[in-house]
Amino acid sequence: MTQELVIVLDFGGQHTELVARKIRELHVYSEILPYTASVEKIKQRKPKALLFTGEGKNIFQAGAPAIDPELYNLGLPVLALGYGLQLMAKDLGGSIRQDENTEKNAKMTVLQESDLFDGLEKVLELRPEKGFMVEKPPAGFTVLGATANMPVAAMADPERKLYALSCHPQVLETEPGTKILQNFLFKITGLTGDWNINGFIANTVQRIRRAVGENEQVVCGLSGGVDSSVAAALVHKAIGGRLTCIFVDHGLLRQNEARQVMETFTEHLQMKVIKVDAAAEFLQKLKGVTDPEQKRKIIGNEFIRVFEREAAKIGKIDYLVQGTVYPDVIESGTETTAVIKSHHNVGGLPEDMKFKLIEPLNTLFKDEVRQVGAALGLPEDVIWRHPFPGPGLAIRILGEVTEEKLEILRLADTIMIEEIKKAGLYRKIWQAFTVLPDIRSVGVMAGKRTYAYTIALRAVTGQDGMTADWYRFPSEVLEKISHRIVTEVPHVNRVVYDITSKPPATIEWE
Ligand code: XMP
Repeated sequence: MTQELVIVLDFGGQHTELVARKIRELHVYSEILPYTASVEKIKQRKPKALLFTGEGKNIFQAGAPAIDPELYNLGLPVLALGYGLQLMAKDLGGSIRQDENTEKNAKMTVLQESDLFDGLEKVLELRPEKGFMVEKPPAGFTVLGATANMPVAAMADPERKLYALSCHPQVLETEPGTKILQNFLFKITGLTGDWNINGFIANTVQRIRRAVGENEQVVCGLSGGVDSSVAAALVHKAIGGRLTCIFVDHGLLRQNEARQVMETFTEHLQMKVIKVDAAAEFLQKLKGVTDPEQKRKIIGNEFIRVFEREAAKIGKIDYLVQGTVYPDVIESGTETTAVIKSHHNVGGLPEDMKFKLIEPLNTLFKDEVRQVGAALGLPEDVIWRHPFPGPGLAIRILGEVTEEKLEILRLADTIMIEEIKKAGLYRKIWQAFTVLPDIRSVGVMAGKRTYAYTIALRAVTGQDGMTADWYRFPSEVLEKISHRIVTEVPHVNRVVYDITSKPPATIEWE
């Protein structure tokens, strides 16, 4: 039996992933494609339905996103949201005009019974797309709903199973939004909802078993982060002892991190892990280096060198496991994605090594990766760990990296994270850590003048690290962290909190 698939066609805007995730939460597998995807490509994927989503676009602008009208003739149910309503109205011959006065928040009155709004109130809160007004729906369509300003806020041709709704996809975060999606997927399209994490694990394990030959060698570079940990555990479930993990301890990790990684994978999960203690080599290479980019380069090159050296000891490697997740794939593949993330490649693979890639998580969103991790028995600490950069503490120590500074930073970091966890805030924060700026200032302790380091605290909220907002801590938590750091960490007499968002700042200080 082939898995049910809904293709989400992306016409731009920030919320495409949200729609795709919501569909998966309803146990239907979804994939995102840019609106430029050809009809052929879409047909090849054999979807059961299409969903159009876009925001902030206007059909009257030059170069407005357009599709091949053949898409409407595939016999597939379509739910068009936001920009999708303009597009469908225009493509199929409705009358539409420019209008800048669309309401920000509107109440839509449901005018016509339909499967789409089944089980919903007769008045729905909506945040309509601005800038246009469908005056008359295309032939064959009925008007399902209108707002005070918009005569056609929702329309449908139930015969052809074409539905359109003028709302931002965020509406899907509300209860009626979920119901609308459910109605579309199950009532209108007739799907059964056959996707779930356990099924994903079973399928992936089977695929890996089929792909990897009996005598082939598989290697995974373990960093201790969520993605590589879950990828490794999943591949291990498939091929057991034929997977070897290489864990390069570059000495720039957090307190006890290397020990925890080893415990988790070798003792708890009984996996084969080669730990490379390369701290001295890395520190030696970083001696006297203060420029942030230079540090990154040195660490990146050194990482590859050490990894290659260890991999060579294993012999011929056929496969390399990578913890690529779906958002990485979308970011590089969707032409409509406005924000371009510069890919951080430290810890990446050596370019000239010859092997095939296994990327078992490349169709999963982060929350799904965590669910897989939990199902595979990874400890909560690993599953929920905040992201940590490949170059580690080196880019949180401004100026030269020394053993003394690493020690200070590790102690401070441990205290900050402990207090955040104690306050029950760890999962509310995308990333929290301490930074050691290259400054000292005057203080007083036990009646004596001190001249010591400052520790900066950084904590941000966000979805993906591309943008971030500084976290509003309850002041007593900040007070506790500050007090503990200045009393428990030697050579520190001052603590400051970084209250800048990204942009214009970045999350890391270097
Ligand atoms: P920035 O500092 O660019 O960070 O706002 C965004 C996210 O990326 C992480 N980061 C890195 N990750 N190698 C990595 O693997 C790197 O060189 C690197 N630099 C930043 C950062 O921790 C944050 O989550």
